[in-house]
Amino acid sequence: MAIRKDGGFVTMQQHVISSQAEHIKASGEFSWLLSAITLSTKIISSYVRRAGLIDIIGEAHSADGHNQTNVQGEIVQKLDLIANDTLKRTLGYRGNVGIVASEEDNDPKVIQELGKGGKYIVMFDPLDGSSNIDTNVSVGTIFTILERIPGEKSVTQGVLQPGYKQLAAGYVVYGSSTVMVYTVGHGVHMFTLDPQFGAYLLVKENVKMPEYANQYSCNEAYLHTFPEGYGKYLGWAKDHKGGQCSMRYIGSLVADFHRILLKGGVFLYPPTKKNPEGKLRLMYEANPLAFIAEQAGGAATDGRGRVLDIQPTSLHQRTPLIIGGKKNVDEVMKFVR
Ligand code: AHG
Ligand code: MN
Ligand code: MN
Repeated sequence: MAIRKDGGFVTMQQHVISSQAEHIKASGEFSWLLSAITLSTKIISSYVRRAGLIDIIGEAHSADGHNQTNVQGEIVQKLDLIANDTLKRTLGYRGNVGIVASEEDNDPKVIQELGKGGKYIVMFDPLDGSSNIDTNVSVGTIFTILERIPGEKSVTQGVLQPGYKQLAAGYVVYGSSTVMVYTVGHGVHMFTLDPQFGAYLLVKENVKMPEYANQYSCNEAYLHTFPEGYGKYLGWAKDHKGGQCSMRYIGSLVADFHRILLKGGVFLYPPTKKNPEGKLRLMYEANPLAFIAEQAGGAATDGRGRVLDIQPTSLHQRTPLIIGGKKNVDEVMKFVR
């Protein structure tokens, strides 16, 4: 139910401005930046909701008619490109975004020099779970905002900051409704896009992730290639809990995470033979969700240490990911460590 304050609904804009008034140092420019992201996700949401009606289903084709693949080696969906272009275009007009980096682009892009006000870095997974688009399963957008470091040696070195440096992180799930969740380091707040207003309205402040729930989320098809500890945990979860443990796996990280944020449990994407470092990307999937998880009282690890402490070495590096309720993550780590 949308929260009302002083008799009126609270939009994301108002919420960011009021929270920035209390907390983060930036003047109104931070909320101006975030408004580019909220605008982009409204545009992306409108495309997602018309998938099938307009020609945005399926793979993007390069000029020679072949499937386009991205730096990840994955086939690019048309909606990946639309989402990517939309985010870059709106962020480009904000004047205070210096660098953008995307899952869909090989390298970070400078759009404003540091000296000319380009003080922020925005990185994103423009469309997460894109393999699910054609079957009407929830997909999402994940983003993170960092500040540029004075005296950065290169653009790439400038963006390779550990997750604990994030100023803000958030995601949107294009599901049965369009839901935005974000944090600026002072709690996690949730908004639903009201299609009538075209505005994100506050529905929950200071969201807390349940410490424990009897549910895990994992693609067990790769079980035989997981490191041994993961298999031991999954076997234990099935036997020890005498069948009380359930499993949910949507195949869109952002949708699986959102369920865990609200209902608890644990998501695990271990190293596999195909992806020995895990499949999920550190900079614009694991880090933003780890920031949100910790702000909501949960935890996120790569099976060795805290995700937010990882010192990145490359923009598209992958990481194993165990993320969820504190007690759930500790339980998994008993077997994995
Ligand atoms: P993306 O669509 O941005 O490439 O992300 C897909 C990711 C993530 O959303 C999901 O959790 C994972 O891929 C599913 O991987 P599997 O199909 O290997 O389970
Ligand atoms: Mn993704
Ligand atoms: Mn993606």
